Amino acid sequence: MKRSDVSGFYKKSADERWQIIREFGELESSEIDTIRNTGALRFEQVDHMIENVVGAMPIPLGIAVNFQVNGKDYLVPMAIEEPSVVAAASNAARMARERGGFTTSGTGPIMLGQIQLVGVSDPNGARITILAHRDEILAIANEKDPMLVKVGGGAKDVEVRVLETRRGPMVVTHLVVDCRDAMGANAVNTMAEAVAPHLEKWTGGRVYLRIISNLAVRRLARARAVFAREVLKTDDLSGEEVVEGILEAYAFADADPFRCATHNKGIMNGVDAVVLATGNDWRAIESGAHAYAAWKSGGYRSLTTWEKDANGDLVGTIELPMAVGLVGGATAVHPTAKANVRLLGVKSAQELGEVIAAVGLAQNFAALRALATEGIQRGHMSLHARNIAASVGATEEEVDRVAEVLVKERKVRMDRAKEVLAELRAKKTR
Ligand code: MEV
Repeated sequence: MKRSDVSGFYKKSADERWQIIREFGELESSEIDTIRNTGALRFEQVDHMIENVVGAMPIPLGIAVNFQVNGKDYLVPMAIEEPSVVAAASNAARMARERGGFTTSGTGPIMLGQIQLVGVSDPNGARITILAHRDEILAIANEKDPMLVKVGGGAKDVEVRVLETRRGPMVVTHLVVDCRDAMGANAVNTMAEAVAPHLEKWTGGRVYLRIISNLAVRRLARARAVFAREVLKTDDLSGEEVVEGILEAYAFADADPFRCATHNKGIMNGVDAVVLATGNDWRAIESGAHAYAAWKSGGYRSLTTWEKDANGDLVGTIELPMAVGLVGGATAVHPTAKANVRLLGVKSAQELGEVIAAVGLAQNFAALRALATEGIQRGHMSLHARNIAASVGATEEEVDRVAEVLVKERKVRMDRAKEVLAELRAKKTR
């Protein structure tokens, strides 16, 4: 029987690891070659990024065009495996351009570190005791990151909440940290760990967790765009009708979590793709976005808003937590991420976050416009059909011709792709 309890996998050489996975998965040597191909990265680089490395997983990198944010033009790198996302963002940005593109703002790069204190008999008293030590707490925290303090960041404030939980009251201290151009998890976690023993000493309680919160309500990015009604029209619908359709789609999402999860997913298609392309932590952004969508008004709601202005044009806004950085993490070491950041030309993490918010808004607009008009499948299908054609072995010359037939017949399926390819080849040899 095959066993997964491989002892000391992390100590094994790359050759040994490939041998182990090859045997376990009964892989072909060509499959091992695919896995071990690390592309733009040297094997030693990936080997140092995570544990038990055997290779790298390439994701397509596309460029969204047409973006204008606060009057500045951007070519936006997007790393994503899903067809249509990059084209949709580019299209939406083109439409937003007509009315000046996106205007954005942000709150500044403030993150919260949480310290969980339990076992205090007088939680409200403990809260006041902790707050009385505010300056000392900030000094202890800031000692841990003099570089951050030097560039104007660091721990700036302390907040304390008494939380009722299933295990009784807890005293939760928030360290309010200005992370400048860092995502901040390392800085904040180190500070929280340094402060924790002092809280125990002052209150007699016991600290358990000391960790950053991804619900980054003090690190929001915002964007707004106006979509002129006349540019929204389709072959079948007037601009006014499209505006109404988008408003109906938004109202549906904002009223129904089942729809809203998908609506917000569409936003995250754009957001995550830029977050990944710039080497940032897309899981942090995902959890922050959805938590914020639930937290801000006490129920799971849309991250965007859509309205009609006095001219009948469509006005969209977005606001979401945006804990992205430019220094530290993969952004600083991954050569593709570094090149992507240079291409974007952003000078601060906040600027990057605001561009990402604009992409999220564009992506949501594109999805709602498609859904409220011809439906999402037509656009999706031609790219999907090309993927299906390629997966059944169509060569580069054959892919488009096979895909065309599949779309026309509305049968974008492997079985039909195989038949169409065979017919095409048979015709050729005749
Ligand atoms: C697909 O990845 C995203 C959409 O489902 C978003 C939406 O429904 O709004 C099209």
